[in-house]
Amino acid sequence: MTKRILLLHGPNLNLLGLREPGVYGSVTLEQINTRAVAHAAARGVELETKQSNHEGVLIDAVHEARTWAAGVVINPGAYTHTSVALRDAISAVALPVVEVHLSNVHAREEFRHKSLLAPVCVGQICGFGWRSYLLGVDALLGHIGLLADE
Ligand code: DQA
Repeated sequence: MTKRILLLHGPNLNLLGLREPGVYGSVTLEQINTRAVAHAAARGVELETKQSNHEGVLIDAVHEARTWAAGVVINPGAYTHTSVALRDAISAVALPVVEVHLSNVHAREEFRHKSLLAPVCVGQICGFGWRSYLLGVDALLGHIGLLADE
């Protein structure tokens, strides 16, 4: 059966393309999703996407992913820096999760340097704009053994 993974986007990422393009680039969320779906498909994996501005909806999506997904790529947006609840959801489901960010959060304001989620994720990719998502997909697939060896 084809493996499936979830790409989850947090708050304000629906505005990508319009939102601070100097920081986040001019690619829209729809374009990122299209590229990520194609990227995963080229590796024989189905990728589902979801965006929400609401913490509880993101938590529900992580819980549901337990029933169907082999892993999750998440850009938690600002919840990265604030959400104990989202971190606990990731720990609870025990799915492999890769955290991604468009911007290099470590080169920005100090409050963005701390990720509450990173310790319960496989790893974190940041600073590569929309390509962070594709790197995140490959990181997840490599981690779960779905990338062909070179
Ligand atoms: C972000 C970085 C976060 O600090 C910020 O709150 C976002 C976007 C990124 O992709 O660079 O909403 O997750």
